[in-house]
Amino acid sequence: MAWTSPPASPSGSAGSGATLEAARFREVLSAVPTSVVVVTALDRGEPVGLAVGTFLSVSMNPPLVGFLPAATSSSFPRIRQAGAFCANVLTVNQQHVSQAFATSGADKFAGLSWRPAPVTGSPVLEGVAAWIDCRITTLHEAGDHFIVIGEVADLDAAPEETPLVFHRRRYTGAAGPTAA
Ligand SMILES: Cc1cc2nc3c(=O)[nH]c(=O)nc-3n(C[C@H](O)[C@H](O)[C@H](O)COP(=O)(O)O)c2cc1C
Repeated sequence: MAWTSPPASPSGSAGSGATLEAARFREVLSAVPTSVVVVTALDRGEPVGLAVGTFLSVSMNPPLVGFLPAATSSSFPRIRQAGAFCANVLTVNQQHVSQAFATSGADKFAGLSWRPAPVTGSPVLEGVAAWIDCRITTLHEAGDHFIVIGEVADLDAAPEETPLVFHRRRYTGAAGPTAA
């Protein structure tokens, strides 16, 4: 796929093209609103997890979902080792949970209540808008990220909850239905 290069700096003093391209990539992609999902697993009895904005529904038959962890994630190797994960869809009241799970090396589960998901035992966080319990089936490399696909083993949702949304580097809530 071809990339359109940003125009060269007239003065030549605004940094390298690679830097400009990364900044522009981030700026433009921040216009795409995403869900905020905490992907959890139990690694040898210890809960692990990270916040992602890349959770996606993949296939109905068989039921598959996915997410894209960075190659630098310190939690993903442990999720991979577990062979399973639970996708926890955060609500508008759980921004602090997102922040905790977006902080590498933090004691992410401190002060949080969770229960084991029915099939894989991966943590289901209290108060989430939905949870999807999965077994990892496929792993692809994609640039500086992985694409992780999981087969859904069990799932549930709390439709009365307002999901958390991340847009232009800010948290917001998913708006209710609009008039047709
Ligand atoms: C809204 C939001 C979305 C994020 N999306 C992703 C993502 O899709 N993939 C990823 O690897 N990191 C994502 N992150 C960043 C990770 O949560 C962050 O790098 C975290 O520190 C990783 O923790 P770990 O080192 O324990 O794996 C996101 C963070 C936030 C706040």
